[in-house]
Amino acid sequence: MPGSYRFFASSERSKRHGGAYTDNFAYSATAIKATICRRIKPVKNNGITRRDWLIRTGGAAAAAALLTQGVDAGSPSDNPPAQTVSQGAAPPTPQDADRVRRMKWWHEAKFGMFIHWGLYSVLGRHEWVMENEGIPVAEYAPLAKQFKPKPFPARDWAKIACETGMRYMVMTTKHHEGFCHFDTKTTDYCSPKQGPGRDLVREYVDAARAENLRVGFYYSLMDWHHPDGARCATDEDARKRLVEYIHTHIRELLSNYGKIDILWYDVAWPLDAAGWESERMNKMVFELQPDIIVNNRNKLPGDFSTPEQQITADKEGRAWESCMTLNDSWGYQRADDDWKSPRRVIRNLISCARDGGNYLLNIGPRSDGVVPEESVRALTEVGQWMRRNGDTIYNSDPCQPRRSNYASFTRKGNTLYMHVHFWPGDYVVVAGLQAQVKSARLFASGESITFQQDEFRVRLTGLPVEAPDHPVTTIALECDAQPTQDNIFVRKEKPRDGV
Ligand code: GLC
Repeated sequence: MPGSYRFFASSERSKRHGGAYTDNFAYSATAIKATICRRIKPVKNNGITRRDWLIRTGGAAAAAALLTQGVDAGSPSDNPPAQTVSQGAAPPTPQDADRVRRMKWWHEAKFGMFIHWGLYSVLGRHEWVMENEGIPVAEYAPLAKQFKPKPFPARDWAKIACETGMRYMVMTTKHHEGFCHFDTKTTDYCSPKQGPGRDLVREYVDAARAENLRVGFYYSLMDWHHPDGARCATDEDARKRLVEYIHTHIRELLSNYGKIDILWYDVAWPLDAAGWESERMNKMVFELQPDIIVNNRNKLPGDFSTPEQQITADKEGRAWESCMTLNDSWGYQRADDDWKSPRRVIRNLISCARDGGNYLLNIGPRSDGVVPEESVRALTEVGQWMRRNGDTIYNSDPCQPRRSNYASFTRKGNTLYMHVHFWPGDYVVVAGLQAQVKSARLFASGESITFQQDEFRVRLTGLPVEAPDHPVTTIALECDAQPTQDNIFVRKEKPRDGV
């Protein structure tokens, strides 16, 4: 409810000094925990409405109409969604309905934390260091003994996720290097039997649950350590052994840690779906975890697509999640200082929500489990913004308007949220809005805004010269119908000089 955020809005405002929001860690830790993370309730299958189905699957013309093609507003993250109108789509099958049920919480959540953590963190030179620096297995594997994380680092990650307004986490249980963070009967190359001396997946699951965050497992099929990891492509016995090894891991992960919400496969090299026996893999996954959702990286479509380092809506309104790094590395890379600003992160999240997708934002903890300070700093600011503005993101509807040089948009029902990231001062404008604005207000404070609307534009006037919120100011425009925008940006229909 917006109301719960108003509380934070005024408390936050009272802490504002010199244009920047300051925050008290203890205050936010408890307050957000109570209001953001605790609000996630287990999803019950209490019937799917037709509207939900249309929006969630996007498979029917009505849903596609909600996602009409727009124009490119100029930045990569503002590209129009790729959804196409699929006229006369088939009615929902029982499988579709089940997918809607399983994915409901995820669509509402919008924002998750990705965690890349592995032996590569010991070297601090990127998660592909083994491959990209040509390190032989015999030289790489001893890192497993040196890998000695502090107690329960996942508790810090879960708190940070919660404070940032993220609602789920996805942790690497095994990355390409082949080291397992979980207890497994298949190999000694796993955290309980190496440096950590304990099950790090268990710690992660417990930490996420303690903060009421949904739990996801990343799992790389590609394996640089296993002797059959490459020869499986040409040797049938090797393939069978590797498939048995990998399927056993997935069975262990989905049997030993209670309810798991997401299985996030990664790189399927060197096999295809038939080689990995991916149909059988997914069948086992759903038998073990009937509510789980799976991605598309075991070479089957799964429940959602995974555009990487870019925000591109999938075709046909298929569910998608854009995964992205905070700097340029997934795993810890000490020297990578190419950090995204909090404003960039917020704009990306808005773009995902606008186009009906999710945003999975990565942290790469150091080998001791500590999250790099630069990440914490950026996420803290994002979290402060989310406390004031999160209700314009969570559970928002796909939003067609996208044209502006200084704002991007999200929508809930007939309310359009204009997120101004470059504050022009004095007045802001939405061009070509097709619905009638009934009222306008600054979202965080609730202060109403004067506006004038004609057939060309809505002008919101009398605004302060300095941006009222930082780093993005949200304006709520309540409309008389679902807001759409005329995106004929070549002024085709507009009067010209004298005509
Ligand atoms: C790529 C990379 C990998 C990373 C993943 C995240 O597949 O190989 O390092 O884990 O993207 O999406």
